[in-house]
Amino acid sequence: MAKAATRGRGIDALLADAEERYRQGDLEQSAKAYDAVLARDSDHIDALEWRGEIAVQLDDYETAADMLGRARTLRGDDAFAEYTNLGLAYYELGRAREAVDALVRAVRRDGGDLVSHSNLGKALYEYHHKVDAEDARRVADDWLKRFPDNPDARHIGAAVSGRVKPEIANADYVADVFDDYAPNFDEKIAELSYQAPEILARLIAERLPKPDQSLSVLDAGCGTGLAGKHLRPYAARLDGVDLSQKMIAKAEEKGFYDMLARAELISFLDEERDGAYDLIAAADVLCYFGALDGAFVAFAHALKSGGSLVFTVEKEVESDDEYRLDPSGRYKHAKAYVEAALARAGLRLERLESDVLRYEYGEPVRGLAVLAAKD
Ligand SMILES: C[S@@+](CC[C@H](N)C(=O)[O-])C[C@H]1O[C@@H](n2cnc3c(N)ncnc32)[C@H](O)[C@@H]1O
Repeated sequence: MAKAATRGRGIDALLADAEERYRQGDLEQSAKAYDAVLARDSDHIDALEWRGEIAVQLDDYETAADMLGRARTLRGDDAFAEYTNLGLAYYELGRAREAVDALVRAVRRDGGDLVSHSNLGKALYEYHHKVDAEDARRVADDWLKRFPDNPDARHIGAAVSGRVKPEIANADYVADVFDDYAPNFDEKIAELSYQAPEILARLIAERLPKPDQSLSVLDAGCGTGLAGKHLRPYAARLDGVDLSQKMIAKAEEKGFYDMLARAELISFLDEERDGAYDLIAAADVLCYFGALDGAFVAFAHALKSGGSLVFTVEKEVESDDEYRLDPSGRYKHAKAYVEAALARAGLRLERLESDVLRYEYGEPVRGLAVLAAKD
C-alpha cells in the first residue's frame, strides 16, 4: 500500500515536470520525463498520448506510432482521440493502409480538422498507388460524399474515386498543398530531377533574340521562383503570380522579381492586364487546370501582339479524353486537346515537344513543352 502510494507520487511529480518542460518548449526534456513515467507504468495512457504528440513534433514517427498505437489499444477505438497524429505518423512511415484508416477516423471525429483532411488526401494517393487501388476509390468516394465542401475531399476525393472530374483544382486545395510544400519545395523537386523551367528556357532561347532585359515577362504560377533565373535576363520587368503565399515568400527571397502577387492567375490576368506581357511562362502549373480554355484565353489577352507563351502540361497517353484527373491530383492532357484549345484562344502553335518533366515513384512523368505565339 505504502509502496504504491510512493510510486503514485513519483509519477505525479514526473508528470508535472513533463508538463512544465512542455510548456517551456523543452520537448527533449519533456519526452524524457514522459519516458520515465512510462518506465514505471507502461500503460499510462496520458503519458503515451503526450509522448506520441512530442514524437510527432520531433519528426520521430516510429516512436509516435508506437506510443499512440498503444494508447489507442488501451482506450479503445471509439474513445481514442489522437487519430490526427497517429495518421500522420503512419503516413510518414509509409504505412498507407493504417494511415488512411486513422485519418478517416480523424475527419469523422472532427470534420473541421483541415490537417487531417489534407493528410488523408496524401495518404489516399499512396494507398491507391501502392496498396489497394479499388479500396482507395471506395474510401475516396465516401470521403467526398461526407465532406463535399472540404477542398481536399473535393479535389483528391474526386481524383482518387474518379466519380467526378472538376474542371480545375480548387484554389484552396492548391494554396494549401503548396503552402505545405514551400519550405522544402526546392530540395524535394530537385530530388525528382525536375526539369520544366530548364525545358521552357530552352524553348524561349530558340525563339527569342538574345536576352537584353527589354521584355515585360510574367512567370504564371511562379512557385518558389525556380524559373526566375531563366526569365530575368529577358526582362525589363518580371512579374510573378501564385496562389500560395508561402511559395511566393520563397520566390521573394531569390530576388529575381519586380512584383509578386498572391492571386489566382486567371483572376490576376483579368485585372486590366490586356497586352501587358511580351512573354508568359507557366512551368508545371497547367497540370492544376483540367479545362485549358480559360487560362489560354486569359494568356492571349495579356500578351502583346507578337508575344510568346511557353508552358508545360503532363501528357495523357492512354485515353481519348481531352484531359484526365490523375489520383495524384494533377491533370494530364491530350496533345490534340492542347492544340485545339490554343487555336480556340487565337494562339498559334510554334513548337510542341515531348519530354520528361520529372520523376515520381521512380517513374518518368512525361509531358509536353509548348511554345505558342500571339500574332
Ligand atoms: C509545381 S509548382 C511549379 C512552380 C514553378 N512554376 C516552378 O516551375 O517551380 C505549381 C505552382 O502553380 C501554382 N498554381 C496552381 N494553380 C494556380 C492558379 N490557378 N493560379 C495561380 N497559381 C497556381 C501553385 O500554387 C504552385 O506554386
